Amino acid sequence: MKIDLLTDPAGMVPYCTDWRGRFTGQPIAIAFPKSTAEVHAVVRACRAHRIPIVTQGGNTGLSGGATPDSSASQLLLNLSKLNHIRSIDLENATITVEAGATLEQVQQQAKARGLLFPVDLTARGSATIGGLLATNAGGTAVIRYGNARRQCLGLEVVTASGEIWSGLRGLRKDNTGYDLRDLYIGSEGTLGVITAAVLALEPAPKGLCTAWVEVETISKAIALLQETKQQLGSLLTAFELMSPTALAPVLEYFPEQAGPLRNERFSKNTPLQSGPYFVLIESSSQVSQAHAQEGLEQSLAKGLEQELVLDASTAQSLAQAESFWHLREQITMAAAEDGPQIKLDVALPISRIDDFCKEMSQALEQALPGVRLSNFGHLGDGNLHFNLAAPKEWLTGLPRIERHAKAKGFVEEHEPSLRRLVHDAVMSRGGSISAEHGLGQLRRDEAAHYKSPVELALMRSIKQALDPMGLFNPGKVL
Ligand code: MLT
Ligand code: ZN
Repeated sequence: MKIDLLTDPAGMVPYCTDWRGRFTGQPIAIAFPKSTAEVHAVVRACRAHRIPIVTQGGNTGLSGGATPDSSASQLLLNLSKLNHIRSIDLENATITVEAGATLEQVQQQAKARGLLFPVDLTARGSATIGGLLATNAGGTAVIRYGNARRQCLGLEVVTASGEIWSGLRGLRKDNTGYDLRDLYIGSEGTLGVITAAVLALEPAPKGLCTAWVEVETISKAIALLQETKQQLGSLLTAFELMSPTALAPVLEYFPEQAGPLRNERFSKNTPLQSGPYFVLIESSSQVSQAHAQEGLEQSLAKGLEQELVLDASTAQSLAQAESFWHLREQITMAAAEDGPQIKLDVALPISRIDDFCKEMSQALEQALPGVRLSNFGHLGDGNLHFNLAAPKEWLTGLPRIERHAKAKGFVEEHEPSLRRLVHDAVMSRGGSISAEHGLGQLRRDEAAHYKSPVELALMRSIKQALDPMGLFNPGKVL
């Protein structure tokens, strides 16, 4: 068995920094196994020599969970070559895929058979199934289909003890003791290596309708969410909120992507400093295009009547719908262009979001006048990407390199206090400090700060039971 191995420092560089450029490490080598047997061999060799293993998929994670430390003593196990579609069972509506298959690959396989793999997020072209499951990724369709965990029926894992657990069952019901699958999902590579999965597929919708909506306030967006849920029921497949400050960098750095904002009102100088908020709503129907469209248009009409909606347009073509989505998906790319930010990924009961946002906009302005709150995300799931950027006047006029250095300085100086301010407010409302991005190394210490001793002790005993040598992704999660 000859396993592809990269040891040349220059060749390893692209794999050693996380997508956001926040964490950089140096592995001893990078292994690229092409089969479960090869992963198994690597794990056994590492165990024999006590070499820690950091597993990596498409390296699109947002919490530094797949980046090695800088000790040059960890092996980076990149699964991108373990990427076959093993089988599809049309009658059972399941697909069995290897961990390195990309999300897009799986979506396309499903589509080619008139089915849908509903997990969806911007990094679909590179994010791998193994990574999506290891982080229990969310994305934009959670409101209808749930997160990655919900679509996973079975797993194959190379365990930390160096064995292969073959749990590739395509069952929707299986109450035979502890759910090992659920233990590995979301464990961020700390308990073993997911090498393959059985995923559930859904019927492909016959019609889809996308709307771009302006609302005056977050509380009106939430009222519209309730109204839309009432009207659409299970037809509602996305409800995404975008604050003006989240969209402003898209207009600044990628003006050609302005899509629905390409009009008079939004093209003046600094158009998006305060209100309105924007909401992208998608409905999909198993019946027809007209069904998806009528349902959404009716709920928007009601929203207008109740003065929840300032303005709304439904996409009249696939291209227009794509331009709505594109604008939403460019937020993260535009933020990266602006410079480093304090990245937060919070979940709250939907009933607490409005008072949380009100309290935070005041408290943050008081803590650091001018700080920009880029608030966007999956309002329908109670998940906000509550990112904080340096005051605009700190960065204006600076060339890119200096702008980024200044923004990095802002993060280094203000992250501990501002993050704590927000997270305290989240936790006091029964929320979570990581809704969908995982803990990785970015939020490990925050989680330890907020979790109860009982919860931490339970997590540590799971880790100790499954990975007693502590070789799997040390320094992450716990
Ligand atoms: C998103 O919803 O766009 C992603 O979770 C990415 C991000 O938070 O930057
Ligand atoms: Zn998100």
